[in-house]
Amino acid sequence: MAHRILITMDDLEAAVRLNAAFEAAGFETSMVSAQDDQKAAVLRDDPDLVLLTGGLHEPAAARLLGLVRDGRVATLGLLEPTETDVAAVAHRMGLTAVLPKPADAAETVALCRRLIERKQLQERTGILGDHPSIQEVLIKIEQMAPVSSTVLIEGESGTGKELVARAIHDLSPRRARPFIAINCAALPETLLESELFGHEKGSFTDAVERRLGRFEIADTGTILLDEVGEMPPSTQVKLLRVLEEREFFRVGGATPIKVDVRVLAATNRPLREAMATGDIRSDLYYRLNVLSIYLPPLRERRSDIPLLVRRFIHEFSKLHDRPFRGIEPAALQMLVDAPWPGNVRQLRNLVESMVVLAPTSEIRPEDIPRETREQGRERLLPVKVPGMAREVAGQELTYIVQSLLDLRLQVEDLRRRLEEHPQRVEVIEVPHEAPDAEVLVSRAGLVSRGAEGSARAVTGRDAVVYESGMSMADVERATIEVALAQAGGNRRKAAEALGIGERTLYRKLKEYEAGGGSISSLT
Ligand SMILES: Nc1ncnc2c1ncn2[C@@H]1O[C@H](COP(=O)(O)OP(=O)(O)OP(=O)(O)O)[C@@H](O)[C@H]1O
Ligand SMILES: [Mg+2]
Repeated sequence: MAHRILITMDDLEAAVRLNAAFEAAGFETSMVSAQDDQKAAVLRDDPDLVLLTGGLHEPAAARLLGLVRDGRVATLGLLEPTETDVAAVAHRMGLTAVLPKPADAAETVALCRRLIERKQLQERTGILGDHPSIQEVLIKIEQMAPVSSTVLIEGESGTGKELVARAIHDLSPRRARPFIAINCAALPETLLESELFGHEKGSFTDAVERRLGRFEIADTGTILLDEVGEMPPSTQVKLLRVLEEREFFRVGGATPIKVDVRVLAATNRPLREAMATGDIRSDLYYRLNVLSIYLPPLRERRSDIPLLVRRFIHEFSKLHDRPFRGIEPAALQMLVDAPWPGNVRQLRNLVESMVVLAPTSEIRPEDIPRETREQGRERLLPVKVPGMAREVAGQELTYIVQSLLDLRLQVEDLRRRLEEHPQRVEVIEVPHEAPDAEVLVSRAGLVSRGAEGSARAVTGRDAVVYESGMSMADVERATIEVALAQAGGNRRKAAEALGIGERTLYRKLKEYEAGGGSISSLT
């Protein structure tokens, strides 16, 4: 079907010239002026792309963009050559792309074709967003789908890794074959191996009959190994063999099984980090990381939040049969400002609950749960919603403030855990005139003292002893030492015991190393 373009007549010369070029290229075109009924034109022509030839800062342009704002329709704006900050205009107006005038006809037609095809891909895959990082992800999906190479998909929880994996499969020649996903972190080692590779009858107590593993079920299709960074070492060896030889043995089996499976791997935690901590073998890392896609957290692409919110409102109001007008700008601003640690999943779930619970047909600020509102206020960082006069802060500033917030959350978490688990990490108050070292030894085991004899964390295998003058950082370090000692130097177990991410633990150890000295119990 021919692509449909709606062209505004603000710059009549450009509109007529480009209209002819689009028609010659086989597009269906129509024109609209600022005086026309734009809504009627959009409804009548149902365009795939709206081309604004001028007057970008006029109210008519904003009105027209408002009519196609839920992201299904691509938008291109032609900018006066005097306009310097091209990207800022595109961003502020929520345009998919901009071109400086005079726009070359062939270039404009080619760009519009690409923008429309990209939008159609987004509709097909469900991967929404105009942010350059998401556009880059879509380009990579298009490039990577046709081949059979392994793809590593990295990104925080809820950023859309599974969505991307399905898109790769659905756009690949394997689309009619099975797509099988397995979470490598959810199963204990023996079960995981039998899930992945199957087992022969009698290979272990519960193996009453032969069972096919996911690799066999996925034959000629695609397998997604989710949370691959958590895979136990022995399974990693077997996976490496599948990747290298395309064959494996069922648990308890002696005959090699050959399969033709495309492997996609996903991880919440950067796999390079898992390799650095020794949790993932380096040969496996390089095998998995042939091609890679990184999904940025939502807080790094806040400009997509309005579009996501509108689409989710539309989706859930239809699903729950609740006629809904939308969201008030102030409420949308709160959502744009919120930190979204659970990324798109969290935003989607929240919008669904608000659509179900909101007493009126519009989401108002007071309908947004208190936690989200307050977290948003704490951020202090202005980020814009199109149509609202707010400053756009630099990405670096966003990053710094987010890091500080994360750090604060970690300290709070640690404090809470210390309170909750006194049996695990014991904090003992000792008077400033502390008993000498030997007394501490008898209470807490090993003793470490600063070279100059100043107050600092004293640790044993089972306890952290608090002395006056110690800072929270000293206590934290001592706590980590104890946890590591108890876990026999195993970082994963220590992080688990402390209830912090292994990544956080690793970063802290690095900091201690950088600050001089290391932790002795580390193996
Ligand atoms: N770009 C996006 N556009 C629309 N919906 C999205 C987008 N990214 C994620 N989602 C939605 O967010 C939810 C979570 O996505 P998904 O399960 O793919 O995340 P994930 O990265 O695999 O998370 P986890 O690491 O927790 O498994 C899904 O409902 C998905 O449809
Ligand atoms: Mg997932």
